[in-house]
Amino acid sequence: MTGPPGAGKSMLAQRLPSILPPLQARELLDVSMIASMAGELAEGRLTDRRPFRAPHHSASMAAIVGGGLRVRPGEASLAHHGVLFLDELPEFQPQVIDALRQPLETSECVIARANGRVAYPARFQLVAAMNPCRCGMAGEPGFRCARGDRCRTEYQARVSGPMLDRIDLRIDVPAVSAGDLIRPAKAEPSAAVAERVARAREIQRERFALLGISASTNAQCPAALVEEIAALDAGGLALLCDAGERFGISARAYHRVLKVARTLADLDAAERVGRLHLAEALSYRLGGERLARAA
Ligand SMILES: Nc1ncnc2c1ncn2[C@@H]1O[C@H](COP(=O)(O)OP(=O)(O)O)[C@@H](O)[C@H]1O
Ligand SMILES: [Mg+2]
Ligand SMILES: [Zn+2]
Repeated sequence: MTGPPGAGKSMLAQRLPSILPPLQARELLDVSMIASMAGELAEGRLTDRRPFRAPHHSASMAAIVGGGLRVRPGEASLAHHGVLFLDELPEFQPQVIDALRQPLETSECVIARANGRVAYPARFQLVAAMNPCRCGMAGEPGFRCARGDRCRTEYQARVSGPMLDRIDLRIDVPAVSAGDLIRPAKAEPSAAVAERVARAREIQRERFALLGISASTNAQCPAALVEEIAALDAGGLALLCDAGERFGISARAYHRVLKVARTLADLDAAERVGRLHLAEALSYRLGGERLARAA
């Protein structure tokens, strides 16, 4: 999420667990095991709410991916089956951000030690928020950063391309005016969204059970099957070919767009991925800004 201070980015992230399905018994066991290894099961309270971890941007490598003198799981593992939220992403040490690429790829944090290696599970949903520039106001109507364009370019460059490539949904969060809060637009309550999410997850569980694959969400679908499960219709296929050429989408990104589109279709309970699902998935990947520049 990119947007000016006060737009509600941190608030939105914190509410995400309220629309996620509860942990299943097996997942709850994993989560409590990691928490106890990290010495965080003090109160001994078990909850089926998905973990939500929001480490501060000053956190060390060991605090995030695990390690230390007495090796312990880090925040990425404490977020297993849940959400890892990096607020003010460009403020994190670049090495720490890049160290998250491995768990995002393999769903575990591997810590090398003199006498061997330790691996902790770390399958989390990464959510990050950032201001558009260092001063935070770039792109606001009538505003010019004191440092000019560098305010934005230098700030955004702190997040590496390979890391950005792993972020499937990029959204601009615009500033909220007092008027927006006084006359709030009609919105779906979290409970209703949670129901749609649960139904879409159920469709996905059934899909992979039928295929005899251990995945339970589209995100976990093996690369070889992504095109098969997407079942693009002709309109979708044409759009994808066109977009691939125009926006230079990498092979990795191509599969990720298809997975997001499949999920959007599941939220609609649609059998096949249509042109609209694909267009929406592409818009999330490219972000409003890049789309506008390419248009
Ligand atoms: N869309 C919104 N609806 C209601 N309150 C909002 C909204 N956006 C922001 N706020 C209020 O503004 C505060 C600041 O939002 P915050 O999430 O901290 O912004 P950001 O992280 O983008 O700087 C929130 O705690 C909330 O009270
Ligand atoms: Mg914030
Ligand atoms: Zn600025």
